[in-house]
Amino acid sequence: MEILLSGATGLVGRALCATLEDDGHTVRRMVRNTSPLSPEAIYWDPKNGTLAPEDLEGADAVVHLAGEPIAAGRWTAARKARIRDSRVEGTRLLCERLAACSFPPSALIAASAIGFYGNRGDEILNEGSGAGTGFLSEVCQAWEASTEAASAAGIRVVNLRIGVVLSPAGGAMAKMLPAFKWGLGGTLGGGVPWMSWIHLDDLVGAIIHTLGRADLVGPVNAVAPGAVTNKTFTKTLGRVLGRPTVLPVPSSVLRVLLREMADELLLSSAHVTPERLIASGYDFRFSDLENALGDLLVGKRQGEDG
Ligand SMILES: NC(=O)c1ccc[n+]([C@@H]2O[C@H](COP(=O)([O-])OP(=O)(O)OC[C@H]3O[C@@H](n4cnc5c(N)ncnc54)[C@H](OP(=O)(O)O)[C@@H]3O)[C@@H](O)[C@H]2O)c1
Repeated sequence: MEILLSGATGLVGRALCATLEDDGHTVRRMVRNTSPLSPEAIYWDPKNGTLAPEDLEGADAVVHLAGEPIAAGRWTAARKARIRDSRVEGTRLLCERLAACSFPPSALIAASAIGFYGNRGDEILNEGSGAGTGFLSEVCQAWEASTEAASAAGIRVVNLRIGVVLSPAGGAMAKMLPAFKWGLGGTLGGGVPWMSWIHLDDLVGAIIHTLGRADLVGPVNAVAPGAVTNKTFTKTLGRVLGRPTVLPVPSSVLRVLLREMADELLLSSAHVTPERLIASGYDFRFSDLENALGDLLVGKRQGEDG
């Protein structure tokens, strides 16, 4: 297949590119940076609405991962606008251009996030569960809705609601590892919030599975079947690293330091299940957190399920 990929330089994009190319597919990266622009790359500038429609012709499918990082800094009004606009306007631009192709791709796998569900306590959430409230939920709802032009053009659109991606190479885990390695890791929110995670390899596997399943359309939760509470996550990570985790982090301190980000990112609870991935036959390699963390932090493949 020839696959167009946005966000190719990110945590997920890099891993996905490597696997797709190893599997013999051609990946054409959509890049915002022209130096160096390889001949097969496609230049786009989502901020200014630049994307030449003819550059998109001929692709079999598109995987759209691009978006301003969520946790790169304090949520000022300007940063929140970038988080939202890079996703909503970038996705709208891409979908309008895809819809205008003479030969549109058959599928668009578009990133979304479990932030869609908001803070839901102990409720078990599947793809049929309604949206939550708050900034991230509103961003996710608008992000998913901005794929409408592609659906209307007959492109199969999957909105992949991604959970916390586990990899020491980036994302939430890379941010928390230094404290845990110093023995300063501790529970957040009294250990109560649910964390719905996915091993990076399974996210790559799930995207490739979704590309090949013509019957999958609409929201698909990309999380492992084994969501855990923050307490279980904290204790498991400490055990895998062989470090103590006895210092709980008070929510009041997080709120002073991070304001709205504390409640939306660190203290929010979402117990999400991958119902549609399982029903469509995706076989998770890592459904147990200890195995996933062992694989990522101790030794490749050491802890793989089964
Ligand atoms: N990692 C997670 O735990 C997680 C969880 C839920 C959802 N997601 C979503 O999944 C997608 C991929 O995640 P990731 O962890 O790979 O993200 P990432 O490492 O932050 O990479 C995202 C990519 O988006 C592009 N980008 C950055 N700022 C942008 C902007 N202002 N406008 C347009 N493009 C921009 C960059 O690629 P270029 O510079 O090449 O354009 C960047 O490499 C993201 O949309 C993210 O929100 C991730």
